[in-house]
Amino acid sequence: MESLVQDILSKKELKNLDKKLVEEELEKYFERNRKMRAVLVNKGFNKRSKEYKTVTKDIRKTLREIYGVFIQKNYSRREKLLSKIKKENKEETIKQILLLHQSTKERLQYYKEIYKKLFKITGKQKTILDLACGLNPLSYFWLGYKPKYIASEISSKDLEFIQEFFKKTAISGKTIQIDLVTEQKKLKSVKADICFLFKALDSLEARKKNISKTLIEEVNAKWIVISFSKISLGGKKNIQKSKRNWITNFLKSKNYYYREFEVPNEHFLVVKKKFSTRKNHKVFKRDNF
Ligand SMILES: C[S@@+](CC[C@H](N)C(=O)[O-])C[C@H]1O[C@@H](n2cnc3c(N)ncnc32)[C@H](O)[C@@H]1O
Repeated sequence: MESLVQDILSKKELKNLDKKLVEEELEKYFERNRKMRAVLVNKGFNKRSKEYKTVTKDIRKTLREIYGVFIQKNYSRREKLLSKIKKENKEETIKQILLLHQSTKERLQYYKEIYKKLFKITGKQKTILDLACGLNPLSYFWLGYKPKYIASEISSKDLEFIQEFFKKTAISGKTIQIDLVTEQKKLKSVKADICFLFKALDSLEARKKNISKTLIEEVNAKWIVISFSKISLGGKKNIQKSKRNWITNFLKSKNYYYREFEVPNEHFLVVKKKFSTRKNHKVFKRDNF
């Protein structure tokens, strides 16, 4: 079994993932395909067997959907780039790193506009929690102020990289590994003023339907900012806004008030979970509905 996990992770685009995630996915897979497990055990997990190849292919496909598809081919360059960061080349080098992940690559030219629009709604919040963050914490210097930053991801290797970035650039930041599908309980212990959930819900839903709804309820923050891509992964299709009705319907059903804004390729929902005063609540409510 150990070698099966290693083999699955041997692909370049999956190597940053943790063994634990592969083991969990294998467990779920074998629950659904009990016969397959029995045959594999019988054949001593023979690498050349048809079953071994099928499991490897199927689990890799799932892991690509969760993680691998977002990683650019030269993703490993980020370490070298980080080691070269100096005061005089900081902005340019960070931009080069942001280009190595699909989500930050698509967002790069809009960061200033996004954060301006966002903080106009929420005000500048002291602590940001960035869930399923990818490389987004590297956009810190576009925020326009210096909040505390908590970065969270499923991959511990990616979090080590982000911690190193915080250290090198003297950001008051920390990291916490959370699998948002299986470890939502961990969220209770992480308090923040504003939580980013950028382009994360589609891949979480692909793994477990309706998981986003419990996630939004569990997050311990006054504000949650949810974003969706307006274009398909290949970049060819525009995603209709109506495809996101499930989330706005859910927010309305829970009486969470929200505002929306857009940039050309991304759609944002700014959700207010807690109101400090009744007056505040009324103003926000009137503005939205
Ligand atoms: C489309 S990317 C978005 C990255 C980042 N939020 C952004 O918009 O720049 C989705 C991210 O979700 C992460 N992810 C996928 N499944 C996850 C899970 N169960 N728990 C935490 N993160 C997850 C992936 O590693 C990937 O970085």
